[in-house]
Amino acid sequence: LPDVVTDKLDRPLRDLRISVTDRCNFRCVYCMPKEVFDHRYTYLPQDALLSFEEIVRIAKLFIARGVRKIRLTGGEPLLRKNIERLVAMLSTLRTIDGDSLELTLTTNGSLLAKKAHALKDAGLTRLTVSLDALDDTLFRKMNDVDFAVADVLRGLDAAHQAGFTHTKVNMVVKGGTNDSQILTMARYFKDSPFILRYIEYMDVGSSNGWKLDEVIPSAEVIRRIHQEFPLRAIAPNYDGETAARWRYVDGGGEIGVISSVTQAFCQSCTRARLSTEGKLFTCLFGTQGYDLRTLLRRGDTDDELSTVIARLWRARSDRYSEMRTAMTSVAVPLRKVEMSYIGG
Ligand code: GTP
Ligand code: 5AD
Ligand code: SF4
Ligand code: SF4
Repeated sequence: LPDVVTDKLDRPLRDLRISVTDRCNFRCVYCMPKEVFDHRYTYLPQDALLSFEEIVRIAKLFIARGVRKIRLTGGEPLLRKNIERLVAMLSTLRTIDGDSLELTLTTNGSLLAKKAHALKDAGLTRLTVSLDALDDTLFRKMNDVDFAVADVLRGLDAAHQAGFTHTKVNMVVKGGTNDSQILTMARYFKDSPFILRYIEYMDVGSSNGWKLDEVIPSAEVIRRIHQEFPLRAIAPNYDGETAARWRYVDGGGEIGVISSVTQAFCQSCTRARLSTEGKLFTCLFGTQGYDLRTLLRRGDTDDELSTVIARLWRARSDRYSEMRTAMTSVAVPLRKVEMSYIGG
């Protein structure tokens, strides 16, 4: 397959994460703190956003270069108008091996009760829902818009009712904020149709005032759960999976831990990220994206665009998480792109 590309560290291009809006109806303290994302914050204007047609065109070019999985992100992707139309357009695409594409979406769950059926009908293959606490008071404080946890749980239920399987629940663990919920969440999602994953709090963006001492290492998360419910490690689902998987010995299902701080997984990172306005980032911690939208709108051909994509991927040497310790000690911190802009 001559069109497949690998980067400087021999990593193939396998996943494309597409941010469809930079807006969100939550103000999670670790992602869009109110002090920064207030009424003065300027979001992208409508004409800056890639249209669905533009997104699909780019997606096809990436698929031709080896992409097998597309994840829609935000901000909050379900805030994008007619998102189910984009899902329907993308779900007809096939990989270069002729397989159907894995088409997934990461959401805060707030609009899922309303949208789950439409997303399923449109051909979405899987869902990931972010949920940081079950304690309602704490959850309202973490999303900082007073959103009730019961409404997210209703969204999860709707996803299940709509026929989604292997739905994942992502919990960002922030020490001193929601680590009290580690076991609460484990108990709740054990023996359920959902796969809970604990994410180490990361230094994404430049707004969240990240401190290393607020990171609870995944090893500690596993230790705490294992004390109550014995666990054993199981093999990854696929090469380069972000989460390390653990199974409850009593048959209660599995959990995952995503340890980008204590056990970086850059060496197998196959992910490209496309921002809402069409900038390509080859790392979550990028400082600058490559403006594909300009090329698109000035009339470049598919061949020209495809050549640019291949060139960018071949030049890629990013491994920020593996170099984090060295980077955070530099005098002038990097101006990294925000999580809400690039979608995690
Ligand atoms: P599946 O394994 O297909 O379910 O998805 P995923 O784990 O690739 O995607 P998901 O959006 O669920 O990612 C979960 C979290 O892992 C993200 O929100 C990030 O916090 C983190 N993450 C995902 N990809 C990367 C990455 O490339 N680098 C780093 N440092 N963290 C990542
Ligand atoms: N560290 C780790 N995960 C984060 N997310 C947002 N900000 C951070 C951070 N600083 C997660 C969200 C969601 C996904 C899109 O990214 O909780 O699960
Ligand atoms: Fe929270 Fe996700 Fe919205 Fe960020 S994009 S504020 S993590 S719901
Ligand atoms: Fe990939 Fe960058 Fe994350 Fe490393 S830090 S896993 S290179 S996105």
